[in-house]
Amino acid sequence: MRISVIGTGYVGTVSGACFAELGHEVICVDVDRSKIDQINAGVPPIYEDGLSELLKKHVGLRLSATSDYEFALMNSDVSFICVGTPSDAMGNIDLGIVKAASASLGEALKKKKGYHVVVVKSTVVPETTEKVVLPIIEKHSGKRPEDFGIAMNPEFLREGKAVHDFMNPDKIVVGSLDMRAGDIVASLYSGLECDVTRTNPRTAEMIKYVNNSFLATKISFANEVGNICKELGIDTYEVMKAVGKDFRIGPHFLNSGAGFGGSCFPKDVKALIGKAHEIGYEPLLLKSVIEVNEKQPSRMVGLLKNRLGNISGKKIAVLGLAFKNDTDDIRESRSIPVIKELLDNGAKVLAYDPMANGNMKKIFGSVEYHSSVESALRGADACLIMTEWDEFRSLDKVFGFMKNRLIIDGRHMLAPGKDIEYVGLCW
Ligand code: UDX
Repeated sequence: MRISVIGTGYVGTVSGACFAELGHEVICVDVDRSKIDQINAGVPPIYEDGLSELLKKHVGLRLSATSDYEFALMNSDVSFICVGTPSDAMGNIDLGIVKAASASLGEALKKKKGYHVVVVKSTVVPETTEKVVLPIIEKHSGKRPEDFGIAMNPEFLREGKAVHDFMNPDKIVVGSLDMRAGDIVASLYSGLECDVTRTNPRTAEMIKYVNNSFLATKISFANEVGNICKELGIDTYEVMKAVGKDFRIGPHFLNSGAGFGGSCFPKDVKALIGKAHEIGYEPLLLKSVIEVNEKQPSRMVGLLKNRLGNISGKKIAVLGLAFKNDTDDIRESRSIPVIKELLDNGAKVLAYDPMANGNMKKIFGSVEYHSSVESALRGADACLIMTEWDEFRSLDKVFGFMKNRLIIDGRHMLAPGKDIEYVGLCW
């Protein structure tokens, strides 16, 4: 099939490259010329493992990029909306970019004679596809719903592993108002060994939110248990290892620590809370998932103060700035509130991250950024471990550079050892 993908962020670019890998012809669309030029040069606009190889393999053959919506729509049968859905100041979903993309698609669709399917892949709150996207497309195209197809096909891609997750899904969800559109979208994935869940658009939208919100709930649950265990001298990791053996629970996403960050979990849980409020429901549990998560960074700084007392003027090393390992993405990183609290308390912050120094510099200019763990630890009065980078699992040799070997571990990367004062956040 001929596919156009609107938006070349990590969902759009990965989806476009993987659809090409599945044998489809793909046109990526974006308003950002630099991204278009990068893709047409076979260079990924974002870092994703395996993406560069796919772009090099397919660009110029069955994958191209353009800023021309009309060209893309005229030369494709299915268009995926893969644009961002950030949070607004109140934490609710901001559909501005989705609405703009829908209007542009509608304008282009006006000129198209044949049947065309519009698919929402962006993470949107329930009812968005039917009550926001569909009416905008109708208005701008002048067409009736039966003249074009509309569907909702959420993604379940982890940042850094998005190509793997696209090509190895544990579920494919297609929500549509009519079978024709749904059949066409489902057929695009026929090259993958995975059953397709067919449903309506709002159910597909809700599946995405519940999937992410449940994962975030597991993490906050693990953190709450960890905070209790810490006070009782119990290692929560030992507890969760046994609890995770229950087939109804499973061992994953029970790692307590500094909490969840990223561009998805915080945003999606808050958006679902906002949608619940909109329909007059008070989501107590979802609110507590956010509340627990937002308290974890302060607990890191609290443990530091318990041991150092006044940290004003003290040199504190922060190891890990990205929201998780193997990415340079600092969106909602738990290091951000930690660094803010350290600076607010007058500490001097020495930071190191293998990939994310540059991005954090845009937020905190007064932090001293280092290009190695050793350099960041030199003369430090304490060290906080905030991101689960593999290189932080063996630091014994470099703690000797510290003035005071106090280690506050927010990611269960190390264990108590001789010559260091080791403190686990929840263990
Ligand atoms: C997540 C979902 O996993 C993915 O399915 C969805 O499509 C997008 O959101 P991502 O945000 O890339 O993916 O990150 P993920 O690997 O899930 O980790 C999210 C955060 O949770 C990270 O900050 C990580 O450090 C934290 N985490 C994860 C925990 O604190 N404990 C855990 O046990 C697991």
